[in-house]
Amino acid sequence: MNDSIIHRVVGRRVWDSRGRPTVEADVHLADGTIGRAIAPAGASRGTNEAIDLRDGGPALGGLDVMQAVSNVNREIAHCLAGLDARDQATVDAALIALDGTPNKARLGGNATIAVSMAVLHAAAASARVPLYRHLAAGGPVRLPLPEIQIFGGGAHAGRRVDIQDFMVMALSARSFAEALVMTAEVYRAAGTLMQEAGKLAGVADEGGFWPLFDSNEEALGMLVRAIERAGYVPGDEVAISLDIAASEFGRDGRYRLGLEARELDRDGLIEMLLDWCRRYPIASIEDPLAEDDRDGMRAFTKAVGHRIQVIGDDYLVTNADRVRAAESDGACNAVLIKPNQAGTITETRAACVAGQDAGFGTIVSARSGETEDVTIVHLSTGWNAGQLKVGSFTRSERMAKWNEALRLEEALGDAAGFAGRTVLPPGAGQPLA
Ligand code: PGA
Ligand code: ZN
Repeated sequence: MNDSIIHRVVGRRVWDSRGRPTVEADVHLADGTIGRAIAPAGASRGTNEAIDLRDGGPALGGLDVMQAVSNVNREIAHCLAGLDARDQATVDAALIALDGTPNKARLGGNATIAVSMAVLHAAAASARVPLYRHLAAGGPVRLPLPEIQIFGGGAHAGRRVDIQDFMVMALSARSFAEALVMTAEVYRAAGTLMQEAGKLAGVADEGGFWPLFDSNEEALGMLVRAIERAGYVPGDEVAISLDIAASEFGRDGRYRLGLEARELDRDGLIEMLLDWCRRYPIASIEDPLAEDDRDGMRAFTKAVGHRIQVIGDDYLVTNADRVRAAESDGACNAVLIKPNQAGTITETRAACVAGQDAGFGTIVSARSGETEDVTIVHLSTGWNAGQLKVGSFTRSERMAKWNEALRLEEALGDAAGFAGRTVLPPGAGQPLA
């Protein structure tokens, strides 16, 4: 009998970084190896993501996942028993067929992604190779350029400010390890500046400082000062990356900035962002317009795409067809890759490959609800994605990922390529003319 045949699948309820229930899956193979993975959870989700199956009702705010866990232990376990874990495509096709909906609504995307990732881990363990190597299948591997949050916002900070992520990218770093050192210096400097300004008030969901600002733009000014205080040249050595997450405050071409009590139309929001791009060293912007605003996305990418990375997150929801559509209509030039938006590893990989084929930037990403699971670090390295987004530089559900990448860089030694600034459009970080 083949050693990598799936023998048993076990689901259980575990808890995420927000103290909410989530799904863990163990996949046992005939040779005794076990693969394990945990589903993450988003708070600012795209409408077209795979569905996170939650139990509803009064307990735990309706967020329990016992139905999804039961789906793993019964239907999914039964369906996958006897399949070969090395054949990820067949396993994932079986999950998709068993679910039978376009968005994993029946079994739950949280159930399917936990199992799909656990199968991946089991296959690598059975082959006795690190996960990133199993994923690379002989192809090139590369440590990603990280984008790391300094200030939280949006749905991760009680909508204290409208913009969701104020991040930095260490453009002049020559290794992943150096990028982390540079980011750590900026994070510390930001903390000192917040304290001096009397604005230190703890951290948001992904570990970035709580955004006690009077305007969205005040955060940009503070970020530039933090980069300078840390001893780096803004734009040359360390640049700014923003996740606007505009679907959270915009619909039908209207955008409501709660902090500033003003409403903008599509052109008004684009003009505000262009103005920021002219005055601040911004290298990357995610979801600048809402998920329903294709015209706005196209107009914005047309204006800045030669110099600035424009990422579709809610807009592309880790979907290969959507990536190809964005390639042909120019709605973005980069794609965020979140496994639980797709619901299986095979679909996640298809979206990443579609992005690479389109010449897009590809950024493997965590969610705001995370755990000790570090699968995404291996995905970004093994698929040669080039970029990684995990949240901030505090709290162990984030640090577990950064630390795992350090181990991969060490294991790869001289063979370790580091993506660095080459993954961004030329001149990224320099103010827009
Ligand atoms: P989420 O947000 O994980 O809360 O959905 C992350 C992002 O928008 O990139
Ligand atoms: Zn996003």
